[in-house]
Amino acid sequence: MAPHKDVDRKRVTLVYRPHDPASATKAVENDRKDATFAALGRKVGRARDVLSVRAAEQSATEEATGAGVVRFGVLVTATVLDPARLPLAVAAVTGLGTMSRMQLRRVYGAQAAAFSAALPLGLVLPAHLRVPQSRSRLELMTVTGTMQPAKRMPGPRGLPGRGGGRVAYVEAAPEWRGTTVQVCGIYPFGVGSGTPMIGVPLGRSILTQAAVCCDPISWFWRAHLIANPSCLLLGKPGLGKSSVVRRMVLGLAGYGVLPVVFGDLKPDYVDLIVALGGHVISLGRGQGTLNVLDPGAAGAAAQRLTGAARKRLLADVHGRRLTLVAALVGLNRQGLVGDQEEAVLSAALGLLDARHKPGEAVLSDLIKVIAEGPEAVRSATVDRGDLDRYHNAVDPLHRSLLALCGGAMGDTFAHRTTVPVSLDGPLCIDISAINEADEKLQAAVLLACWGEGFAAISAAQALADAGLEPQRQFFVVLDELWRVLRAGRGLVDRVDSLTRLNRQHGVGMAMVTHTLGDMLSLADAADRAKARGFAERAGFLVCGGLPAAEMEPLQKIVGMSEREQALVTSWSTPPAWSTEGGREMAPPGRGHFLIKVGGRPGIPVNVALTADELGLHDTNKRWRAK
Ligand SMILES: Nc1ncnc2c1ncn2[C@@H]1O[C@H](COP(=O)(O)OP(=O)(O)O)[C@@H](O)[C@H]1O
Ligand SMILES: [Mg+2]
Repeated sequence: MAPHKDVDRKRVTLVYRPHDPASATKAVENDRKDATFAALGRKVGRARDVLSVRAAEQSATEEATGAGVVRFGVLVTATVLDPARLPLAVAAVTGLGTMSRMQLRRVYGAQAAAFSAALPLGLVLPAHLRVPQSRSRLELMTVTGTMQPAKRMPGPRGLPGRGGGRVAYVEAAPEWRGTTVQVCGIYPFGVGSGTPMIGVPLGRSILTQAAVCCDPISWFWRAHLIANPSCLLLGKPGLGKSSVVRRMVLGLAGYGVLPVVFGDLKPDYVDLIVALGGHVISLGRGQGTLNVLDPGAAGAAAQRLTGAARKRLLADVHGRRLTLVAALVGLNRQGLVGDQEEAVLSAALGLLDARHKPGEAVLSDLIKVIAEGPEAVRSATVDRGDLDRYHNAVDPLHRSLLALCGGAMGDTFAHRTTVPVSLDGPLCIDISAINEADEKLQAAVLLACWGEGFAAISAAQALADAGLEPQRQFFVVLDELWRVLRAGRGLVDRVDSLTRLNRQHGVGMAMVTHTLGDMLSLADAADRAKARGFAERAGFLVCGGLPAAEMEPLQKIVGMSEREQALVTSWSTPPAWSTEGGREMAPPGRGHFLIKVGGRPGIPVNVALTADELGLHDTNKRWRAK
């Protein structure tokens, strides 16, 4: 270890640059292809070719199993205090290099640059010392004030000619590539990562600190990692599930995906959607209203279409309104709507369309038509020309519709729509004004919002298919899913059909719920089976802190290792007892999530919110305001 007697001062610098996981894959694959190609191109095989192919293949295998890839090189500088001693130093360093089996090459012509790169200054030769050919026009303009290049301006390479100081090229040290298995001594920055850097950056891996990017649309569409563009987030309340979804909304909006929240119960997304320049529609008692008979965006889209596409959309509009009115009547009367009643409703809706402009007719007009009993409606009841028989048949429906109009739901549904649902920007339907205890109204409003929202999406897609509008992707957020599912029967079916179709629909989805237990404890057995299906079909699961009792059902769906189970349960421990300074303590599991795709090992990630995100939204705002 003693200094060499012929070198006054010597510095050996190991320079290295980790590849990000995306380019690492490309790099090792290219190396492998190059090596194979070179070996195949020679008539007589050389031992060296075989070795380099083997090495390249080994690197590719290691990278594929999670190792990182690092470019590295070595810079050696030697300083002498007396120029006369320079030849001695050169000989000594060359000799030392040979002894340590390192090929050293002198940096003729760029010694100053190489010397500074060897100092701990953060100078990265390949990035900093490539001398560009010419200045950009813009730069020239700012220098000379005109578009004309100046006569004798030194270019970035200096002035040509004698004494001009022109330099064409500053040499960077040669770099080699190795995986973290081979050059594991380069620690701690050359880390491997099993995840692709594709998608919205969520945070850092808890194990390796490597960046983790993840969102259902990118993972399905660009990375082909999952079979279905949806995800299910689980976790105890307050651990940051909605914050993760908000991050995805923000990131995906940046990628050009339209985020839509059809029914924000808290509200968790209003602030963000406003900040993104989107619309917020408020519904609930004393707030905005939504006319259930309005054909909405789908009706307007149908006007722009022709032929089969138009017919299909109109039939869709009709069917949706019918189901919605029937569902609302059913919810309100706490009983089913019979087949004959549905036929009456259908006929009456058809008549209303003929009599009114789209969006004009409201529930009271529907009641009028039924009370009147025109021929088209009467034929749906076998009245045999007897008005009494007709009234006997429709009276229960008539009563239920009157009750619907008069009750709490009437305030929301029996008037013209205040703000129509339109998808020309991010959208959030805020239904937080509805009291949580008012489950019936909540369910009804959700049902209506989803019906309206998904109809608007299929209308947008019908227009895109016809070439009238650009094709768009949508990111639908279903937060507080357990409340939604519990709120009414029709909702499970609606989510069910949606989770089956979203691949074709260009609709990515994030579903959020507390525990699987919430979802699997629905009253109806068929609903329970469907709800389990959501979890099974979701492209990936994101688990925040969960109680131990959750592990068994979860295990059945995604296969959690013991370590993973322990990790997830440890995140559900409550915060420490502390009232110090009146500050609330953050729960230890806040922001920690395990991303699970099928049976693969999970990716534990720590989601760090930016100051802007924290400022934009704080669910505990109202508590703190005091
Ligand atoms: N990664 C995080 N870092 C710091 N605070 C967070 C983080 N995630 C969430 N929070 C805060 O925790 C609170 C609850 O978050 P929220 O996303 O509403 O939880 P959940 O939807 O799981 O109930 C919010 O005030 C939020 O700002
Ligand atoms: Mg939440």
